[in-house]
Amino acid sequence: MAGSRDAKEEIRQRVGILDVVSEYVTLKRSGKSYKGLCPFHAEKTPSFTVSDEFQTWHCFGCGEHGDVFSFLMKIENLTFAEALERLAKRAGVELERFQDRQTSRKELLGKLNALAAAYYAGLLKRTPIAIEYLHNRGLADQTIEQFHLGYAALAWDGLVQHLTRKGADLKVAEQAGLIVRGDRGLYDRFRHRIVFPIFDIQERVIGFGGRALGDDQPKYLNSPETPLFSKTHSLYGLNLARKAISEKGFALIVEGYMDMITAHQAGFTNCVATLGTALTLEHIKVLSRYTQKIALAYDADSAGMAAALRGAAMFDEAGCDVRIVRLPGGDDPDSLIREGRVSEFAAAVAEALPIVDHRLAVLREKHDLTHPAGRAAMLKEAARVLADVPTFVERERCIKELIRYHPNWDVGPTQAQNQIRADVEALVRRRQGGAGRKRGSEAAPKPATALERAERSVLRALIRKEEGAEGVLNTLAPEDFSSEITSAAAKAVFEMFGQKRGIYLPDLLELVSEDVGAFLSQLAMSDEGPPINEKTLQDCAALIRNSGLKKMRTSDILAPYIKQGIIDASGAPREQTLEELKTFLQKSGKLPEDDEQ
Ligand code: GTP
Ligand code: MN
Repeated sequence: MAGSRDAKEEIRQRVGILDVVSEYVTLKRSGKSYKGLCPFHAEKTPSFTVSDEFQTWHCFGCGEHGDVFSFLMKIENLTFAEALERLAKRAGVELERFQDRQTSRKELLGKLNALAAAYYAGLLKRTPIAIEYLHNRGLADQTIEQFHLGYAALAWDGLVQHLTRKGADLKVAEQAGLIVRGDRGLYDRFRHRIVFPIFDIQERVIGFGGRALGDDQPKYLNSPETPLFSKTHSLYGLNLARKAISEKGFALIVEGYMDMITAHQAGFTNCVATLGTALTLEHIKVLSRYTQKIALAYDADSAGMAAALRGAAMFDEAGCDVRIVRLPGGDDPDSLIREGRVSEFAAAVAEALPIVDHRLAVLREKHDLTHPAGRAAMLKEAARVLADVPTFVERERCIKELIRYHPNWDVGPTQAQNQIRADVEALVRRRQGGAGRKRGSEAAPKPATALERAERSVLRALIRKEEGAEGVLNTLAPEDFSSEITSAAAKAVFEMFGQKRGIYLPDLLELVSEDVGAFLSQLAMSDEGPPINEKTLQDCAALIRNSGLKKMRTSDILAPYIKQGIIDASGAPREQTLEELKTFLQKSGKLPEDDEQ
């Protein structure tokens, strides 16, 4: 490992990123960095930025970023080994001097994960209660094998012991998030859980999901973000499903691990699952390599349906043909299939509705259509839904289906159609005349809260090694940061700064996941004005620290509610519901209001 890192470092210093990038992109100096038109997406104004200081590049348009190696890999479509070889030649560096030159950090993580997956799978075979759990959930032995399911024991250090015996590098295991360093030494992250290894399309184990066997919280636990694993980029089961996706011509997306596996076992082999996060543009990018047709089969509860609609809207914006599968109330694909209602599920998939039709169906179910007043109320809401539809032709198609719900059946179809159309088109005109066109124009960035700005300032000061920045290391912990991304970023920055008394951005980007890397790279390269002084920096640190404390208090207050199952009847403390409960508690005066903006 050290060999490859040294070689990369020597090459980076000798070739210089500006020279390499200039061969492909015309760069102009802009402040401390250089700007040009991004070679990786179509744009008219330059947002592709190269920094000589950091030896990295970042596109503020498409979010792609990296060092000289990743640039060459992307633009020439090379593997890392090929890029390394080319740049070594150019730099006059003999790679033979460096051993293990191919072993990148990602490979090490992948190997360690594979070792852990094999350990968990072996343990499952020897643990009857775990096998029984899976059998009770309807899984056949063959399915358990196919998905390499495993079991993590109740003990605190089963994996730690196993990896030690195998002579594995525990540092890598820690970075993989499989073991955690606590006050009393190292312990396993996954305990008394069914373990789902997550594979990428190269069949590498990139991370894990763990389902509690009992009522332990959280119900599901995932690996943290690592250089190999990023929840917003990964889809569970894509390695197994991609062939069927191409063959069947569409992808079926579900919410949960068990939904995915059960669906697969029942023959819905084009099924993939998200990993407890919302659908992202990255998921869409990945899937669009195989298909433009998507069906979303989310839980038939209000949270599931809201999430399906949000995801569907994104696919729609990206030009995909997206449909929403409507399941009977309270069910998810797993429960439906397990009850033997496979044909019902198959029918729901076959009859999945486009977004508008789904929204109209929801309205029809909500109102009492046997009475004129109910029909009028439904049509009023329907007009607002139809006003979102971009084309006249499509609006007419939907209007035709609504004619029979006209409150006065005596008016006849033509009259009814004219009246509904008049309402819809009036709304369309009002929207177009109003706050400008929504489609096509880029959404304005959400203004940052004081807390977000403080977090950015502290991390930027450290990355740029500004005066007094070091001071915050003693007063802040990465856990104080407000989101998973910023706290993972802080963890990496704090650690590197602590060890090296400074930050070397290309190395830092290799230590973190795609998402955290995009955040850090964007932060380092954006022009956010002059350095801030030490006093302001300490104020920022105090703000972050206090909000961290508040976060802890909040979770203390929420714990009993989670335990009593108030948050989610199925026992899942979804973030969304936590947010809702928090607002509820604040309104009822049981919890202090957030004071940042
Ligand atoms: P089962 O009870 O095992 O059938 O789970 P489910 O798949 O029905 O779970 P649910 O619909 O509640 O959640 C769907 C997905 O959201 C899961 O597969 C997880 O990926 C994720 N999820 C659920 N609960 C949690 C949780 O407590 N923490 C985290 N991080 N993710 C969760
Ligand atoms: Mn579910």
